[in-house]
Amino acid sequence: MSMLSHDVIIVGAGLAGMRAALEFAPGVDVAMISKVHPVRSHSGAAQGGVNAALHEDDSWENHAYDTVKGSDYLGDQDAIEIMCREAPSDIRQMEHWGVIFSRNDEERIAQRPFGGAGYPRTCYAADRTGHALLHAMYERVMRRGVKVYEEWFLLSLIMEDGECRGIVALDIPTGQVVSMRARAVVMATGGYGRVYRTSSNGLVNTGDGMAVCYEAGAPLMDMEFVQFHPTTLKSNGVLITEGSRGEGGTLINALGERFMKTYAPNAMELASRDVVSRAEQTEILEGRGVDGCVLLDLRHLGREKILERLPQIRELAIKFAGTDPIEVPIPVRPGAHYSMGGIKADFNGATPLPGLFAAGECSCVSVHGANRLGGNSLLETLVFGRRTGAFVNDYLVGRPMPSPADTHRVEQEKRLAEMVARPAGERGWALREELGTMMNRNVGVFRDRAGLEAAVTVAANVAERARRQWVMDKGKIFNTDLTEALELQHVTELARVIIAGALAREESRGAHFRKDFTTRDDAKWMRHTLAHPDPDGPKLSHAPVAFTRFEPKERTY
Ligand code: FUM
Repeated sequence: MSMLSHDVIIVGAGLAGMRAALEFAPGVDVAMISKVHPVRSHSGAAQGGVNAALHEDDSWENHAYDTVKGSDYLGDQDAIEIMCREAPSDIRQMEHWGVIFSRNDEERIAQRPFGGAGYPRTCYAADRTGHALLHAMYERVMRRGVKVYEEWFLLSLIMEDGECRGIVALDIPTGQVVSMRARAVVMATGGYGRVYRTSSNGLVNTGDGMAVCYEAGAPLMDMEFVQFHPTTLKSNGVLITEGSRGEGGTLINALGERFMKTYAPNAMELASRDVVSRAEQTEILEGRGVDGCVLLDLRHLGREKILERLPQIRELAIKFAGTDPIEVPIPVRPGAHYSMGGIKADFNGATPLPGLFAAGECSCVSVHGANRLGGNSLLETLVFGRRTGAFVNDYLVGRPMPSPADTHRVEQEKRLAEMVARPAGERGWALREELGTMMNRNVGVFRDRAGLEAAVTVAANVAERARRQWVMDKGKIFNTDLTEALELQHVTELARVIIAGALAREESRGAHFRKDFTTRDDAKWMRHTLAHPDPDGPKLSHAPVAFTRFEPKERTY
């Protein structure tokens, strides 16, 4: 196949990517590639809602303050102000595009309380908000005529003279390796939750975009900050929305106590996620858990409210935990959920590599700092997806189509051929298991030097073995054994960056808690971590945090 050519290539077809695609002028040739069908993107799994200060008693400034406080003061305040100020119009636009938000008694968009928020500002569509947004967006993308390459796998960026001129990708159904040149590339590939053995994330969330951009020289920022969601199902890590607590659900331990009164006496179950997850983990470690879990009690909400506001949660609890929350509490525990870190990008999506842009969870703008508030991730996709699309649309003006060499494709073809030709070796799934189990154990809610140093060794060892793994399927057509082998290389690379940042950051801030450095150290660590690739493992540098109006304070809930 000759080289494909589009004005813009967007990698990833979740909410951030699709929202970006919709900002281009009619004549611009926009293409998207995604390893799954767009409506199977992980944005569709977002449940509880999306934040915006819509009500006259609320304000974008309050939203910004809550977000800055939630970030443990590591979020860049200029970017946070943009996000919170622009949120209401983005929500209204989604409504005009056909998203069926739940309504309150006054027929306005209903808003529920969420963790770390001083006002009920989370708009929702029952407990399927991401699904509702994704389908409305996809309809628009189809109408716009965006060319979608579904079931294509990103292999590398085409980098020439320090700028990004396209991508090389694998057409999974045919096994062909194809070059795609473009005047700009937008990365919108979501998170990496599957670096961990158990996660609320879909199996597709292997951080491919982050890993490929990192290999190409784009710094990853603040990767040590991994969000553990307080309520994931014991059996498989499936998300039980924070909206359950927003609607009044309570957390209880084996003694039947609402233990959050000890950890966050004011906000209780609606403290920020890092605080609630640490509280749960402490209860479990100190022997007040129930079979390695705590219990989420919704019974007092009553059948009608559960069926109206939390129907999917009920279904998930029945199917995967064998408990009907109308009758019985749901066993839950903290689970890897979200990446605060990602490809360093500014609030127009620009990365340090010319021609490369990033939006959504794969990017780090940084609006979440050390801990994201629930409901701000969907918002980030809408605001920064839109801003990135608009910015790149202008960036294209006067920028010619590049003519990259074919060597990039040839290199990737050779790489895959070598992987497939290997006659024996370790299987990738076993290495994935080893890495993920170690990440759960050593790089979880609580961390310390000994555990992180051991993690450095294990991850380097797995990375080395992953380079020699055995791909058993020798065919071309739908070779998912091969794509899983590539995913293993990506999660391993990212694990090494997460661990390096966590080991270096000798303080506790937001989701990063060091048992050996239990307090926040603003003098030394009020700064972003940047990771750069190096044959000996990630090399770290730092960048300042942007402040506007909010002075750092002690964070209590
Ligand atoms: O709990 C939830 O519904 C998740 C929301 C989020 O991560 O923003």
